[in-house]
Parts: sequence; structure tokens; C-alpha cells
Amino acid sequence: MRILVTGGAGFIGSNFARHLARARPDWEVVVFDKLTYAGRRENLADLESRPGFLFVKGDIADPRAVAEVLPGCDYAVNFAAETHVDRSLYDAGGFIMTDVYGTFVLLEAARRAPGLKLFVQISTDEVYGSVASGSSTEADPLMPRNPYSASKAGADRLAYSYWATYGVPVIVTRASNNYGPYQFPEKVIPLFVTHALDDVPLPLYGDGLNVRDWLYVDDHCRALDLLLEEGAPGETYNIGGGNEVSNIDLTRRILGLLGKPETLVRRVADRPGHDRRYSLDCTRLRALGWSPRVPFEEGLRATVEWYRANEAWWRPLKEDSPAFREHYRRHYEG
Ligand code: NAD
Ligand code: TYD
Repeated sequence: MRILVTGGAGFIGSNFARHLARARPDWEVVVFDKLTYAGRRENLADLESRPGFLFVKGDIADPRAVAEVLPGCDYAVNFAAETHVDRSLYDAGGFIMTDVYGTFVLLEAARRAPGLKLFVQISTDEVYGSVASGSSTEADPLMPRNPYSASKAGADRLAYSYWATYGVPVIVTRASNNYGPYQFPEKVIPLFVTHALDDVPLPLYGDGLNVRDWLYVDDHCRALDLLLEEGAPGETYNIGGGNEVSNIDLTRRILGLLGKPETLVRRVADRPGHDRRYSLDCTRLRALGWSPRVPFEEGLRATVEWYRANEAWWRPLKEDSPAFREHYRRHYEG
């Protein structure tokens, strides 16, 4: 089997490529990635010498580049996206270009690839918008409220339309917030862990009571692997960690694990359009036999330890990468 992993040099994609190396050692894995600020070749360093592993640098919005890699694959999993909500507040165009148009380019190629068994579009729980009470089922209306989630919702339904219209074997997955190793240190958990290690104040938005449902990245990878075999084309699957935690609670846990004082918390202005809460009903996926295995306390401890042990990975990203510095200055100090 050959599987195309677009966006495979990013956080979840690189963990998924590593999962495949373990769980499906005889598969060929082709990682296709533009290597934006968030994509790092070194995230895949331990896989590069593996037989059957291939890295191709390219843009999913480039039809010619996509036509070189997608035909001949049995599976395609599209992780490639601009993913940071805060960046989407300043540059919605980049999100529409990659997340919507890039997905369209991949779907067009998928339509012309008769051997393709499954195209997995990685969507997000953020497409449901803010959930005041209860949990979102796959049948709920989509109500995205920021340019990132709106772009993802566009791609989510575009992927479905290629199933409904052309019979492309598409499934859509909507995962909750992931955490674990190799997450770019701009998202809240790695930002707060690495700031706390350096005794830098942690910028907590608004009242800190926004709730996210945290999913350990390995549990996400196991769900995706299961869906490669058991997912029904045309279906959408929620993938939630079952760990709804407020941001202030999360922040306190991180500080506790690192033995740092709560005085490091700095309340800052809220994110515009900040969704209050996400919550997923995962009955459909659980019926296939999946449930998350990593308790939040254990996953958070392992994640904090990974960042503590891998300073050589994150420090250059925070200190030497113009992308991080420019975003930080514009967003937090502007
Ligand atoms: P990430 O930002 O860490 O990685 C994104 C990857 O996509 C990077 O390697 C980047 O170089 C690549 N990329 C960006 N634009 C590209 C393009 N035009 N062509 C090819 N490659 C491109 O993101 P992540 O957190 O790993 O998220 C992966 C996917 O999962 C995204 O689709 C995201 O919307 C979705 N998702 C993420 C979360 C989360 O909590 N991180 C939750 C639910 C869904
Ligand atoms: P983030 O990691 O950006 O993921 P998302 O917006 O996709 O859920 O943010 C997670 C939560 O943490 C979200 O409610 C916003 C909050 N947050 C802060 O309070 N401060 C920060 O500096 C960041 C980046 C996020």
C-alpha cells in the first residue's frame, strides 16, 4: 500500500507518519509538504532513512506538483493547512488559498486517480462553532466563527461534495484540540510550557474560562488508522479526547507540572470571536471500537517532559524563526 500524507511535516502529520511506520511497516509513506513556518523536515528525521519513506516538498495548491504525487496512491490523508486561528485574524487569504483551494486541487487529483481507496480530509471540531451546551454530533449545523474555521468548513463540505457528486471515496474527520510532541510552539500548550520553562509570563486570553477538549495526538493517529480500514466513504467522524478543560485550569496544570508560580499568568485582551467551548459527541467513532487511551494528566505530563527534554527542537523555532517573532510581536506586543 502507498499512502500520501499531505502536511506530514507538521505536528499531527509527522506523528501520523511515525504511527504508520510502527503500525504498518510494509506501507510506503509519501509525505508531501510545503514546509511553511509550521512544517519542519526535522520532525521526520527518524523516518527519513526508512525504506518506503519519501519526502516531497510541494504545495497542495499547485496542481502540477499534486499530479506528481497523488496518482498511484492507495490512500491520501490531507493534513496540509494553515492552522493557527490567531494568524487567520491577520491573513485570511493564506488560509483560503491552502485550506480551501489546496483541498480542491487535491480532490480534483483524487477524482482522476481510479486506484485511490480513500481520501481522508482532516477537518476540525471548530467547524461547529462555539457550543454553549451539550456536544456536537456529525449531523449538527456548521457555524464557524473565524477565518481558520470557516476555511476548514469550506474544505470539509467541498470534500463531501466530491463524494456526493463524483463518488470519490472521501471521509471527513473532525478532531478536537490535539496536544503532544512536535507541536509548533505558538499553540497554547507548547507556548505556555516553553514560556514557563523560561519564566516568561503566559498570555492567557480574556477570563481564561474558554473550554477545549484535549486529544492526545497518538489517540488521534489510532483513530485515523482505524478509519482507513473501517471508515465508510461519504461519512464524517468526530474524534474527541473527552477532556474538556478550561484554559485557566490547563495553565495551572502546566505551571504545577513545572513547579512554577501562578504569578506567571498574565491576563491579556481576548481573541476576537473567541469560541467559548468545543465539545464532541463521538458515538459514531466509538461504535467502531475506538476510544482514547491516554488520560489527560498522563498525556500532559508526557508532553511537558518532551518539551523539557527537547529544548534543541523548540528554542530555535522561538528565537531564530522570523515567522514566530513576527507573529509574536504583531499579536502580543502590537
Ligand atoms: P501544523 O500547522 O502543525 O502543520 C501543518 C502542515 O501543513 C505543516 O507541515 C505545513 O508546512 C503544511 N502546509 C501548510 N500549507 C501547505 C500547503 N499549501 N501545501 C502543503 N503543505 C502545507 O498543523 P497541525 O496542528 O498538525 O494540523 C494538521 C491538520 O489537522 C490541519 O488540517 C488542522 O486543521 C487539523 N486539526 C488540527 C487540530 C490541532 O489541534 N492541532 C485539531 C483538529 C484538526
Ligand atoms: P490554540 O492553541 O490557538 O488552539 P485553538 O484556538 O485552535 O483552540 O488555543 C487554545 C486555547 O488557548 C484557545 O481558547 C485560545 C487560548 N490561548 C490563550 O489563552 N493564549 C494564547 O497565547 C494562545 C495561543 C491561546
